[in-house]
Amino acid sequence: PRKIIIDTDPGQDDAVAILLALGSPDEVEVLGITAVAGNVQLALTQKNARIVCELANRADVPVYAGCEAPMGRTLVTAEHVHGKTGLDGPDLPDPVMPLQAEHGVDFIIETLRNAPSGTITLCPLGPLTNIATAFKQAPDIIEKVQEIVLMGGAYFEVGNITPAAEFNIYVDPQAAKIVFDSGCPITVMPLDVTHKVLVTKPRNDAFRALGTPVGTAVAEMTDFFERFDKEKYGSLGAPLHDPCVIAYLIRPDLFQGRHINVEIETQSPLTLGMTVADWWGVTDRPANAMFMGDVDAQGFFDLLTERLARL
Ligand code: BDR
Ligand code: CA
Repeated sequence: PRKIIIDTDPGQDDAVAILLALGSPDEVEVLGITAVAGNVQLALTQKNARIVCELANRADVPVYAGCEAPMGRTLVTAEHVHGKTGLDGPDLPDPVMPLQAEHGVDFIIETLRNAPSGTITLCPLGPLTNIATAFKQAPDIIEKVQEIVLMGGAYFEVGNITPAAEFNIYVDPQAAKIVFDSGCPITVMPLDVTHKVLVTKPRNDAFRALGTPVGTAVAEMTDFFERFDKEKYGSLGAPLHDPCVIAYLIRPDLFQGRHINVEIETQSPLTLGMTVADWWGVTDRPANAMFMGDVDAQGFFDLLTERLARL
């Protein structure tokens, strides 16, 4: 299996991504989960990460708290999407498993330093603060990364937090720039892809029909999470943004995209956090990311439901 670190701000869709990874041990080995401030404050995202591990009966997965604020910018959160706790919907017990004492950034640095070159995959599902901080503190770890597969950005679908920007990139554009400029192989799951994987009623029913604590919790999470997109965009259901990252590691054939140049806007107040993606190759700037544009949505949901059933 591929060795991965999940960097996350749960978030219902982050939670489903973690569950998909834990249900797929043949393909991915979760070395640890690092929490970051994003959808809600760090105190809640690290707690939510532990709640999800316990839901999957995996209290053995080490969970670390990382950065509590973006690089040089005030935190913007998304309670309007995820609810007050960040994980509104199901009624899950407070976690008993401990939070690791080590800082999430130190865990990332140490894990990469102790690994052979090109053997660890980073899976950022929130603002890129932890990853960029680790790269800044320890540039020697960059060559240890096999691939960064992240959820963030948008091209045709443009913004969900401002007209120009997607939430994860907007919260910490400076961090995003460091990551996109790092030279690591990067695969991006932008809104263009994630707005195609919608939890319609039959798909939600399929989660519930699993008849397990995990199936019920995922159905309840996506019930809550769909409100925002339904009201705002008339969407047919909750978009499962972050699980696309994990699905790609298991079934890359479900996704299609282009290897292109992507630059991050870090200055303009109007378009801060925009992913300026050269989809049509109109510049000669070098390609730095595999930017996905399409997904086999039914294939994605078949995979997800089957893996959740294993937990
Ligand atoms: C991203 O922002 C968060 O609200 C979600 O968890 C996802 O990572 C979508 O823009
Ligand atoms: Ca997220």
